[in-house]
Amino acid sequence: MTLRPPWRDIAAMDNPELPRSLRVQAEACRALGSPFHGDLLDLAAEDLEAGGPVAALVTPWADASLRKLFDDAMPLRLLGGLHDLVLSGDDPALVATYPKPGREADASTAWIAARAALIRHHDRIAAFMSHEPQTNEVRRSACLVPGFLTIASETGLPIRAFEVAASAGLNLHWDKYRYQFGDSAWGDPAARVAMDTEWTGPVPPVDTLVKVIERAACDRRPGDLSDPVQRRRLLAYIWPDQFERLDRIRAAIDLALSVGVSVEAADAVAWSTRVAAPQPGAVTVLYHSVFWQYMPSESQTALAKVIADHGAAATPDAPFAWLRMEPPPEHMSNMELRLTLWPGGEDRLLATAHPHGAWVKWLN
Ligand SMILES: C[S@@+](CC[C@H](N)C(=O)[O-])C[C@H]1O[C@@H](n2cnc3c(N)ncnc32)[C@H](O)[C@@H]1O
Repeated sequence: MTLRPPWRDIAAMDNPELPRSLRVQAEACRALGSPFHGDLLDLAAEDLEAGGPVAALVTPWADASLRKLFDDAMPLRLLGGLHDLVLSGDDPALVATYPKPGREADASTAWIAARAALIRHHDRIAAFMSHEPQTNEVRRSACLVPGFLTIASETGLPIRAFEVAASAGLNLHWDKYRYQFGDSAWGDPAARVAMDTEWTGPVPPVDTLVKVIERAACDRRPGDLSDPVQRRRLLAYIWPDQFERLDRIRAAIDLALSVGVSVEAADAVAWSTRVAAPQPGAVTVLYHSVFWQYMPSESQTALAKVIADHGAAATPDAPFAWLRMEPPPEHMSNMELRLTLWPGGEDRLLATAHPHGAWVKWLN
């Protein structure tokens, strides 16, 4: 009797959207600066079509549409599972083929080790892929901070900062990082977390005094930085050939652990209603990044109403600001930084930006 690998008969091989999703994501990885992941995903797509071990891992999505595959970030889960295995050190053959500073990795060589690892560690990778992706991009602070500077400069008041959908809370202590905005810098010169954003446009109001007198954050499923497995998951979703991003998130995690960041497990709508009403003597800022699209449309409507109500309650002594870095619906690959400040409530486009904050084009 010939033994056939169990995934040979798997229906996932028949869904053309599966390899297509891997190839579309491959292009996006290359465009966003990870050629290694781009090439790895192209090889994974070929493996899936040939009924290899990738086919066995994508069975939960056997009938999924392209939309569903991207809503679930299936290709990123596969990459994250492999990188998590690398970071754990539990598969030395795979570790030896992945990029590291001073060594450029070859995706074809890495794929041979990755394919073997997907067979050897099938259950572990499948378990990793069954979780919603957990990401927290620290350099988004480089886009948000000029917005905070604008708010502080225009109101002249201290800030109460409330972040919705904060993930593990790595963008909650944005005022403890160091930023370079073209020729001007802002933040603690000794900070270990520094942003190397490519800046274009005028300089934001870096001479403004910024004082944060209260801060808090929520997330539907907060990342717990005290748990080493969750810390590794956060790192696993950073692309392995992006060493600066990896260094930055490690430094931000160290800082968060030392200052004790806490993110409340709560839904954005209920939490924003409860905590973020304006108060006299400070400007109350509700802010978020790359989150709006993950809410169902009823929740979007409900949160927009909460924000409008807080805005309506604002006074010159108790202003309210809504600051957000989100993709415009018609063009999801670049971000917009928008600010609405009450009283007044005019919606302003302050900047466009790379999704990970690699560049910011300041328009103000
Ligand atoms: C792509 S992540 C972005 C995280 C973080 N803002 C950043 O920029 O790195 C989206 C986050 O939104 C959170 N989220 C989605 N829907 C939510 C809701 N209704 N209430 C609170 N958090 C939510 C998810 O748990 C996830 O942490």
